[in-house]
Amino acid sequence: MVQLFRVAKIYPPNYPALKDIYLQIDKGEFVFVNGPSGAGKTTLLRLLFRAEDASEGQIVVNGRNITRLDGKGVAELRRELGLVFQEFKLLPTMTALENVALAAQVVGVSRQESKRKAFHLLRELGLKDKHDARPPTLSGGEQQRVAIARALVNEPMLVLADEPTGNLDAETAEETMRLFLKIHERGTTVLLATHDTGVLKRFGCRAVFLQRGELVGDSKQESGEARL
Ligand SMILES: Nc1ncnc2c1ncn2[C@@H]1O[C@H](COP(=O)(O)OP(=O)(O)OP(=O)(O)O)[C@@H](O)[C@H]1O
Ligand SMILES: [Mg+2]
Repeated sequence: MVQLFRVAKIYPPNYPALKDIYLQIDKGEFVFVNGPSGAGKTTLLRLLFRAEDASEGQIVVNGRNITRLDGKGVAELRRELGLVFQEFKLLPTMTALENVALAAQVVGVSRQESKRKAFHLLRELGLKDKHDARPPTLSGGEQQRVAIARALVNEPMLVLADEPTGNLDAETAEETMRLFLKIHERGTTVLLATHDTGVLKRFGCRAVFLQRGELVGDSKQESGEARL
């Protein structure tokens, strides 16, 4: 599903944020990207949806070499991904339902079908009563669930989540993590960056560790097999 081969990222003028990364993630895996602040977790995820270009190496996502893509190719790539960020990034003037439906509409799903899909997802995520609420009137956990619904509405093969629980209290963070596990159980591949080592222990999934831009550990290689 995801392959990185000898990948490096150097931010101008010459800051090496990622060095010589080799990583393979199979279809259906759940992988945590862990490491201290500044280790390169966000950079790694941004490379995968081409928010940043790799400085060196090759990246394959869903069978497509994304190191050489034109604008159309980047748009196609992003359509296949579900992206979740720490700061939600919802449109404040649209309702929860509209925020989710819009993501389907922009890839060509009819207005009516988009709304139907958004409606079902929000209900599934426990936001039945919040369809018409605008993000500024929702709690952090509710906003994050809307953001997750938006990421899932096009049934992506791969979900990339960057510190999705970073702005949530412990209980809501736990619920949100369970949501990601549920998504994973349906067969979606999930790559989730977090600096929280507690979650790794609790959820027991594969974890790769970054330190100063280097991949210094992978629980899959250490145990010989992925636990999930
Ligand atoms: N656009 C940029 N230009 C220059 N340097 C950058 C840029 N983005 C990130 N960096 C640097 O690259 C390094 C890795 O950053 P990154 O955001 O990937 O870390 P992170 O592991 O996600 O950290 P955190 O846990 O704080 O989110 C940091 O030292 C950061 O200062
Ligand atoms: Mg980060």
